[in-house]
Amino acid sequence: MTDITSQTEAALAAIAAADSLDTLEAQRLETLGKKGWVSLALKTLGGMTPEERTAAAPAIQSARAAIAEALEAKKAALESAELEAQLARETIDLTLPAAATPKGSVHPVSQVMDELAEIFADLGFAVATGPEIEDDWHNFTALNMDETHPARAMHDTFYFPDKTSDSKDVLLRTHTSPVQIRSMLAQGAPIRIIAPGRVYRSDSDATHTPMFHQVEGLVIDKDIHLGHLKWTLETFFKAFFEREDIVLRLRPSYFPFTEPSVEVDVGYSNEGGRRVVGGHGDAPGHAWMEIGGSGMVNARVLEFAGVDPAEYQGFAFGLGIDRIAMLKYGMNDLRAFFDGDPRWLAHYGFSPFDQPTLSAGVGARA
Ligand code: DAH
Repeated sequence: MTDITSQTEAALAAIAAADSLDTLEAQRLETLGKKGWVSLALKTLGGMTPEERTAAAPAIQSARAAIAEALEAKKAALESAELEAQLARETIDLTLPAAATPKGSVHPVSQVMDELAEIFADLGFAVATGPEIEDDWHNFTALNMDETHPARAMHDTFYFPDKTSDSKDVLLRTHTSPVQIRSMLAQGAPIRIIAPGRVYRSDSDATHTPMFHQVEGLVIDKDIHLGHLKWTLETFFKAFFEREDIVLRLRPSYFPFTEPSVEVDVGYSNEGGRRVVGGHGDAPGHAWMEIGGSGMVNARVLEFAGVDPAEYQGFAFGLGIDRIAMLKYGMNDLRAFFDGDPRWLAHYGFSPFDQPTLSAGVGARA
């Protein structure tokens, strides 16, 4: 009996004196471990007569309980002391100046969108936006593509499982053209807008990504004709590529939302393995490259959008922003645009202070 009492007192003293988790663990093994003296003492109870056991058990049980409690309390104390020490060691003084300057940059797509807005603002265009989650009426039907129109299948559309409350299909817009409809419905005619933004198609290779960027253009007024369209695009590309020798070719084509429809080609040449925009596409060493679709807005589209085709007409165009960014700034893989690789961004990104302005140059690099 006295033996257990003194052994317990000695163990409790050793536990109290433990100055690390390791010495505490050694104490645990010596007492409550498989071969610790408390465990061995508990085992002797099995071989005793009931009377002996009744006499011996309480002292052993209370020794076990006291030691277990002391071990646990000491463990918690040592752990929190260690955490405190670690926190003190790893303190950061947030009032000190940064060791490295922040490395953010403006993505070329954002830069080109700013350049577009700047150039078209000078031509009297406002910037319009629309939702990326669209319904099939705005994305297709109102653009003269009814449910059975084959062009719907060509768009590789991402559909959502649910429909809108009036049971229209919900989808990720496949082009920026629905912003034409939304803008006309909201403000009527006359109208002069561009609508840059993200569009989505289920498509992926070196020149296609499931998300990409387009800019839509729309001009509705009285007496608008194809000549206005050609002048507008030519003036835009001259300002955008910062050269006067831009030559456009309008090639007859088909889009459901325009009549007549034209595809827009630009003359270019190859310089050092890179396409450089400029010159007549039929000139020696030159060729034509398609850069967008356009045409006179189909009268049916005007009707869907609540504009009277007897009074108003106009043109629309759609350009791939990523494509013209690649042409202007010399990237060759579209997928790298959306990888978020900091080395690519550091190389092709722009300084936030390098705002495109017509006076300082829309392509200026700081
Ligand atoms: N929405 C077409 C597409 O994504 C591009 C386009 C063609 C837009 C002709 C237009 C247009 O506004 O007139 O393929």
